[in-house]
Amino acid sequence: MDYIHGYSNQEQVRLIQQAEYWREKLILKDINYQTGESLLEIGCGAGAVLGILGQTFPGLKLAGIDLEDKQIEYAQNHLNNLNLNYVDLRLGDANTLPWQDNQFDHIYAIWFIEHLSAPQKVLTEAKRVLKPGGTITVTETDYRTILVSPESFDYRYLVDSLCELLLQAKGNPYIGQSLGTLLSHSGFNQVNNQPVSFHYAYSLNSQELKGFIDYVDSWLAPTVEQAIAKLDKDRQKLDAGLDWFRSIPHRDNGAVSATIYRASGTS
Ligand SMILES: C[S@@+](CC[C@H](N)C(=O)[O-])C[C@H]1O[C@@H](n2cnc3c(N)ncnc32)[C@H](O)[C@@H]1O
Repeated sequence: MDYIHGYSNQEQVRLIQQAEYWREKLILKDINYQTGESLLEIGCGAGAVLGILGQTFPGLKLAGIDLEDKQIEYAQNHLNNLNLNYVDLRLGDANTLPWQDNQFDHIYAIWFIEHLSAPQKVLTEAKRVLKPGGTITVTETDYRTILVSPESFDYRYLVDSLCELLLQAKGNPYIGQSLGTLLSHSGFNQVNNQPVSFHYAYSLNSQELKGFIDYVDSWLAPTVEQAIAKLDKDRQKLDAGLDWFRSIPHRDNGAVSATIYRASGTS
């Protein structure tokens, strides 16, 4: 599969750091699972999010699935290191989950649906393995919402290139806004889709601003070479866009905002 982030060890470490960054702000936001319940994360990657859920809800029975053996191998070690030794990790495709019907109380997916060419198929499959009344929680962004101030045409060019890369890989960079629609069309009930917005400004809290810029930089910078190689984009403009983005925390009028979408439903 043409997956834009790749499967290097560096990327796996990035996924762990990314989950830490979002731990309270997003991953655990409005989440309350009960002891004895079961949860499956589809597209679990390096096990970063499963680790956070397992630490926060020690009585939760965890399972995860990912298409790549390197991710599952990393996840196994990561979760063992956290003393989460009984996670049911599977190598496989979320389009055809290797579990019987009505197995799980909860399904969780984050930074995953954006990579799918047929998200509704995966969500319908997720519904199949959920118990009646079980919940699904999905979280994604819309990359166009990552706005900087002062604005820059080069930065826009960089973000547009990132969106094109995701589209070329058969993903959807704008999927956040459509999550609720997708859940409804996949047969879920009590669906909602809420935006979760973040805004950081130098004048308000320069450290938070720098933290967010550094976080985005960790996955945005590696897309520059890809945009040149795969889309024949203009290196000078991409580099200028990245430089501009990196300059935002050093400007006394610098600010950034972004919207992430959280959708949930019941089976
Ligand atoms: C950006 S990572 C996110 C991992 C994890 N949710 C996290 O937040 O750390 C997306 C993962 O989805 C996996 N993936 C993509 N398509 C898949 C599919 N059809 N079935 C299972 N996993 C898939 C990729 O291998 C990758 O590990």
